[in-house]
Amino acid sequence: MAFSERVTRLKSSLIREILAAAQRPGVMSFAGGLPAESMLPKVTWEQMPVGIGQYGMSEGEPALREALAAEARALGIDCHASQVLVLSGSQQALDLAAKLYLDTGTPVLLEAPTYLAALQNFQLFGADCLALPMQADGPDLAAMRQRLEQQRPAFVYLIPTFQNPSGLRYGQAKRDAVAALLDEFGVTLIEDEPYRELSFDGADATPITGRLRKASWIYTGTASKTLLPGLRVGYLIASPDLFPYLLRLKQAADLHTNRIGQWQLLQWLGSEKHQQHLAGLRDYYRSRRDAFQAALQTHFADLADWQVPEGGLFFWLTLKRPLDTRTLLPAALAVDVAFMPGEAFFPEPDQHLGYLRLNFSHVPPALLEEGLRRLAQVVREAK
Ligand SMILES: Cc1ncc(COP(=O)(O)O)c(C=O)c1O
Repeated sequence: MAFSERVTRLKSSLIREILAAAQRPGVMSFAGGLPAESMLPKVTWEQMPVGIGQYGMSEGEPALREALAAEARALGIDCHASQVLVLSGSQQALDLAAKLYLDTGTPVLLEAPTYLAALQNFQLFGADCLALPMQADGPDLAAMRQRLEQQRPAFVYLIPTFQNPSGLRYGQAKRDAVAALLDEFGVTLIEDEPYRELSFDGADATPITGRLRKASWIYTGTASKTLLPGLRVGYLIASPDLFPYLLRLKQAADLHTNRIGQWQLLQWLGSEKHQQHLAGLRDYYRSRRDAFQAALQTHFADLADWQVPEGGLFFWLTLKRPLDTRTLLPAALAVDVAFMPGEAFFPEPDQHLGYLRLNFSHVPPALLEEGLRRLAQVVREAK
C-alpha cells in the first residue's frame, strides 16, 4: 500500500499494548498514568447553554482563555489571553509543535528519560531525538550547552515539575540556568506541566517559561490529571511569534476543541469546589505514595534504588542489576502484574537498561503489597 514515508516510522505504543493487557480482570496495573477512579469528580451538565453545542472558535472559548492566562500570569508567565490556544489534551500541543518545527532529521533535545508519547510523536515526524542527561535537580548543564552548541536543536522539550517518568523536579537554580542557556542560543522551549498541581510536600517552583527573556516558547497544561482525562481539554500558551502558526495548524487539525468539555472546565477553574477537589487529590495521592514507598521498602530494597517523588504519579526505579526490563513483562503479566519497562522512555532504549516506571495512584492499597511482592519475585528470578 502507498502510505506516506512518515508511516514507516510509526511505532506501536508500548504503553497502549501494556494497558490493553492490564485491562484483563484481576491484573494489578502499575503501568498507566491514570488518575484514581474514585477521585474522578462528579460533573453535571444541566446548566450548559444549548448554544455550546454550536461550532466554536479555533482559539477556544474566550472566557476559558482569560481564565487560563490569569492562572499562568500567577505563575510568573507574562502573557495575555490572546496567546492561549485551547487544545484536545496537552498531547495536541506536542503534535502541533512537531508539525511546526520538524522535517526528517531535524534535531530536538529531550530529557533522557522523557514522556513516551512525545518521543513517539516527534519520531513520527522524523526528528533526530537528542538525549539530555539528567541529574537530581535537572539537566546536566555542561551536556546541555554542548548539545546546543554542536547540534542546535529546533526546540528543547522539558517536563520540569514531577517529570513523567522519573518524578524529578528541577530546582530553582537549574530553572534559571536552563532559561539563560535557551536565551543565549535562541532555542525554543516547550515546557509541559501536566503534574504541577499534584504536589504532595509543598514543593513548588515557577515555570522556566517565565524566566526567559528572548527565546520563543510554548507552555502547555491540561485538565487530565486534576479533573477528567476523558474531557480531552488541554491548552498551550505561546510567545506571540509562534501563536499564529500554531492557531492555523490547530484549524487544519480539528477546527476547534470540543466546546462541551471547555464549558465543563470553566465551571471548575478558580472555584471553591476546584480548590477543594485539588486539596482532596493531593491528600489522597500523598497517602497512596506513602503506602507505595513502604511496600517498596519491603520488597525492592535489595533490588533497586529510587527517590521518593514529591509529586506526580510515578516511582522510577533503577535496578541494581541492569536487566532489560522489557524481557520481564511476559513473566509479570503471567502473574497478573503490569508495569512500564524504562527502556521505552529513552531515545536509544538499548543504551538504558534496568529502569522501571511504577504508577502509585491506581492499584488499591489492599492489593499493593501482593502486586509488588510478585513483581519483585519476577525481577529476582530473571536470568
Ligand atoms: C508529560 C505528559 N505530557 C502530556 C500528557 C498528555 O496529557 P493529555 O493529552 O491528556 O492532556 C501526558 C499524559 O500522561 C504526560 O504525562
